[in-house]
Amino acid sequence: MIATIVRGESAFDRLAADQILKVMREKPDAVIGLSTGRTTGAMHRLVAESWKAAPFDISRITFFGQDEVTGVSPLYAGACVAMLRNEIIDPLGIDDDHFLMLPTRSDDFPAACRDFKAELDRRGGIDLLVLGLGENGHLGFNQPGSPFDSRTRVSVMYPELEARIRRETATPPEIPLGGVTLGLADIMEAKRILLVAKGRNKAAIVRKIIKGPVTEAVPASILQNHPNCEYLLDHLAASLL
Ligand code: GLP
Repeated sequence: MIATIVRGESAFDRLAADQILKVMREKPDAVIGLSTGRTTGAMHRLVAESWKAAPFDISRITFFGQDEVTGVSPLYAGACVAMLRNEIIDPLGIDDDHFLMLPTRSDDFPAACRDFKAELDRRGGIDLLVLGLGENGHLGFNQPGSPFDSRTRVSVMYPELEARIRRETATPPEIPLGGVTLGLADIMEAKRILLVAKGRNKAAIVRKIIKGPVTEAVPASILQNHPNCEYLLDHLAASLL
């Protein structure tokens, strides 16, 4: 287990962006998984800025999102596809064949999930998966209680996120909202994982996932069993270690 602890948001963002850029440079056909949220936006923009300042061939790299909100339009600014496009995919000029997302809406989610995972495998599997961390220990939409052998599927949101998205999209209660996500077993198949967490609000859960027992009650605790997982933390998120 490697934990890298840095002081300050800009050092944190720089280090995370450099890890992504390193894989982009070293493996011209790399498959790189990204997470959305407050933790990752700045590092994504930094990847794009750094690449623009010193461009190299990225035409064969595949980026994908580890999860997506379901029941909303893909154009909604809070959809993961829109966030990733805005933060990193469009600034890097990645074409549609090299940006894979799970759909926000589908008539057949199980088939869409199977196809998504099969496409990642066809491209050689996940070289680097950058994972954000929920305050309840979730990874993607794998909420507490998600089986460790779960595969890519539709799951539930946590209440705070659901309330925000209903408000922002004016979605009435009778329309179900959820999240489609890589399963925990799929996450564990990534060749390399970078778990990123910053801020004091993540300190308690960071301690639990690193020092606590490996349990389905805390999904991200599964990463203790991954052979190549690094935890990148700012000093606030690491303050209870
Ligand atoms: C949401 C996203 C996840 C993300 C997590 C952490 O659940 N669907 O992909 O990892 O939030 O978000 P934040 O970085 O804003 O705390």
